[in-house]
Amino acid sequence: MDQVNGSVVTEFVLLGLAQSLGMQFFLFLFLSLFYVGIVLGNLFIVFTVIFDSHLHSPMYILLANLSLIDLGLSSTTVPRMISDLFSDCKIISFHSCMIQMFFIHVMGGAEMVLLIAMAYDRYTAICKPLHYLTIMNPKMCMLLLVTAWIIGLIHAMSQFVFTINLPFCGPNNVGSFYCDFPRVIKLACMDSYRLEFVVTANSGFISMGTFFFLIVSYIFILVTVRKHSSKDLSKAFFTLSAHISVVVLFFAPCMFLYVWPFPTKSLDTFFAIVDFVVTPILNPAIYTLRNRDMRVAMKRLSVQVVSSRDVT
Ligand SMILES: *[C@@H]1O[C@H](CO)[C@@H](O)[C@H](O)[C@H]1NC(C)=O
Repeated sequence: MDQVNGSVVTEFVLLGLAQSLGMQFFLFLFLSLFYVGIVLGNLFIVFTVIFDSHLHSPMYILLANLSLIDLGLSSTTVPRMISDLFSDCKIISFHSCMIQMFFIHVMGGAEMVLLIAMAYDRYTAICKPLHYLTIMNPKMCMLLLVTAWIIGLIHAMSQFVFTINLPFCGPNNVGSFYCDFPRVIKLACMDSYRLEFVVTANSGFISMGTFFFLIVSYIFILVTVRKHSSKDLSKAFFTLSAHISVVVLFFAPCMFLYVWPFPTKSLDTFFAIVDFVVTPILNPAIYTLRNRDMRVAMKRLSVQVVSSRDVT
């Protein structure tokens, strides 16, 4: 097969993350450890929330869904980054490259909407506490979640259908260690200026808008919390600061990767690692280590496991 949609490029070349052997070993250890942490930590949150009925509140159900998306998002790139570290030719087939971009954007888009949903959940809990359970009912959670995935799909599709039909006739060096729309579109052998703008608008401006909207919302919620100072104040502050750190760490790289017009390799790498490696481990780290509900749930679960072993 040498022709894909009338073009001649059937594979792309990815950039190596590290040149020296020492750096390769360091990154191998760092990425492997983090990836194991991401898989175990996020699955742990999902199972704890599913199996502990005390955690069946909208906040934790949304959190468990965020964990699933984080796990998926990280799995689109990190395993490949690890296996590419020691290989000399980092070749990715045309189709794998397209599939990678597609899934990055489906899950990235879904995560963006889910972060808005989580902010809305906190807004209702803190600013409209009496109506919280009627507003955030199971139907509403389901609706928010379905919306998140549909918007993720539309967001990815709207860039994907243009990109897959572009003629690629070489060069085929992506200039990054994973495939993403802005870098791949630059390789098309036609004037892709307008398409690049569509991508910048679709990923960059949307994440910028969402980011400022979320930050303003959280400031508003924090001000409300301060006004009704109660015994739940410190718990609210903890949850809100956890959400805000996830929002900042998720959106800062997105804004840089899609809006900043002068990409440099080192900053690119740094921000991509933040988005695919650091942000996905943040939730498990924050919630399992510092959240009281979660720790109590962990204890309950371990007691259950031990006692069920004693019975059988
Ligand atoms: C994700 O959200 C849906 C809809 O509210 C819920 O039914 C499901 O259990 C959640 N998933 C997890 C892993 O908690």
